[in-house]
Formats: sequence, structure tokens, C-alpha cells
Amino acid sequence: MSLQNQVYPVIWQDDRVLLIDQTRLPSEYALVDIHRCEDMAQAIKTMIVRGAPAIGVAAAYGMYLGAREIETHDRDRFLTQLEDVAKTLRATRPTAVNLFWAIERMLKTARQTLGSVDYLKQALLKAAKAINAEDIQTCQAIGDHGLSALPSAPEKLRLLTHCNAGALATAGYGTALGVVRSTWQADRLERVYADETRPRLQGAKLTAWECVQEGIPVTVITDNMAAHCMQQGMIDAVVVGADRIAANGDTANKIGTYSVALIAKAHNIPFFVAAPLSTIDFEIRDGSQIPIEERDPAEIYQVGETILCPPGIDYYNPAFDVTPADLIAAIVTEHGAFSPSQLHGELYSRKIV
Ligand code: MRU
Repeated sequence: MSLQNQVYPVIWQDDRVLLIDQTRLPSEYALVDIHRCEDMAQAIKTMIVRGAPAIGVAAAYGMYLGAREIETHDRDRFLTQLEDVAKTLRATRPTAVNLFWAIERMLKTARQTLGSVDYLKQALLKAAKAINAEDIQTCQAIGDHGLSALPSAPEKLRLLTHCNAGALATAGYGTALGVVRSTWQADRLERVYADETRPRLQGAKLTAWECVQEGIPVTVITDNMAAHCMQQGMIDAVVVGADRIAANGDTANKIGTYSVALIAKAHNIPFFVAAPLSTIDFEIRDGSQIPIEERDPAEIYQVGETILCPPGIDYYNPAFDVTPADLIAAIVTEHGAFSPSQLHGELYSRKIV
């Protein structure tokens, strides 16, 4: 499989983390240096780094950056202060469960590693690098399983995606866009349609940018055009990512995903969710228990310097919505594609942490 033009949004280099600043794409490709846990927490909050698996990788490195700032040589004091580091990182974004999963895995590494505090710190760096490397392998496996799960006709598929679940949203390669990549590499993709994804425009800005990097044909549409495109017979399947999947398969993803699933159902178009096992939250029975982040209303009323709405009005800005499991044809993971009702039985015992 070709990995040329690979995009890595989180890079460990020369004792610090480099993040691609996703708030500046596509007009500017800039890297941000992160040396401290506080700066990593801020980068996650402000969406310099975003997308569930990428947030998990970033938080894992954030745990190490916080750990190396701890000055004690006493193991118990170190572990107590590491809990505070975890608390800072947990308070960044509530919906993507990969954040909490990665933090928990780092804490578990620290608790289970014997030896000096310096040795523990090195073990934490190694664990963060492992989470980073595993995610790339995981996404490639998701891409390949997704390709097998997609409809066998027509020969060249027209896929619709929402938001950005690409290399930028993971350690590299992507989940939903990983499926698109694998389909493209297998010469089975005609084109991908990218919903622009109001209010932050991850589809128009990030998905489109990634496709351009790899020469994948992409058409950006505004969110309210998806039903029309389906009615016109322009879409063969929908593939989206996920921020948290409940044990019954209900899936939280970027706001607007639920409407796409409903209109796909109305047009008899299969709707796939692509996500790693780390995105499945077996502690949560169904989607009603998934915490939904609400963000600054300015994301709705302001574009650059331009204010779109009159003063004196109210706003509601949920960043995610929940697609009920019965609208999902399959959830594609690194272990294969499963119907939502199979999730718990097939995958519960395979989740690490
Ligand atoms: O608010 P964002 O940009 O972090 O939301 C991202 C999404 O909703 C993605 O679809 C999801 O995290 C999956 S990323 C592989």
C-alpha cells in the first residue's frame, strides 16, 4: 500500500511535539511546537489538533510532557501529580472517548511500571509513541476492511463523507477517509463528495485539502445539498467517522451526521461508520448517555471578521449529534466490519486498557 503524501498531524521530534495547525489549513501549512502539557491541552481545546484518534494521540504525548515537568523522585507523589496532569487533559473536550482512553492507558502504564521515576517517565514516552504508531496501523486496517464492506457495484464508487475523518483526524491515513484512500488505491473510487460541515468547515477545509494532497477527486457540497445529490443518484455509499460509539452501536459524530444518515436511509443508500476499537465506549449502553460538547456561538455567527447575524439573538452550537444504530449498515473497525448489534459480542474482549 502506498503511503506517499502521508500527512502526520502529531509528530514527536527533538524532545517536543509538533502539531499541524489545523485552524490555519488550507491557506497555510504551519507547525506548532508543544513543550508543555498546558499547551497541549490548549491546542486540543482550540482545535489546533482535532478528530477523535488524533486527540487521543495528542493527549498521550501531553501526559508525557506533564510527567516530565513533575519534579519529585518519590513514586507515590509522582503518581498523584500525574493524576492532576490527566485531569487537565480530560477537561479539554468531552465527546471523543479516545481522549479518555489514551489518558487511561498512560495512567495504567505509569501504575504498572516498576522502577525509578525517571524510568517511569521514559516508559510513558514509549507508551505515547506506541499509541501513535498503532493508530496508523489501525487506520490502514480500517481502510482495507471498509473497502471490502462497500457495495460491489458499481465498479467505481461515489462516496459521501461528512466532516474530516482523515489523516489529520488520526495519527495518519484516517478512518472514513482511510476507507476512501483504500478505495482510491484499489481503483474503485470515482470521486468523494465532502459535506462542507458547518460551522467549522472541516469538510471544505480539511477533507478537501487532504484529497488534493493525494490527487483524490473531490467535490465539496454545502451540507444542505446532500439530499439533492442522493435523489439525483450521485451517491453510492456514505462513510463517516465517529467520536464515541455506545455499546449498542449508537454513534456520536460531527453535528449533521445524523441528518446525513436519515437521508441516506430515505434513499436506500448504505451508511457506514469507520472507527477504531478505541472509539467504542462499552461503558455506555446507548447514545443518550454520550456527552455532547457545546462550543462558542461565535462559530455560528462569525466567519473571519464578518458577523453574519443581527445582535440580540440566541444561539445553540452542539458540536456533535448521535446517529441511532438502526441507521448504520456496518461499523468498520480494525478487526473487520460489524453490524451495530454484533459490536458488544465480537469486540468487547479485544479492547485494550
Ligand atoms: O470537532 P472535531 O473536528 O474534532 O470533530 C471530528 C469528527 O467529528 C470526526 O468525524 C471524528 O472525530 C472522527 S475522526 C477519525
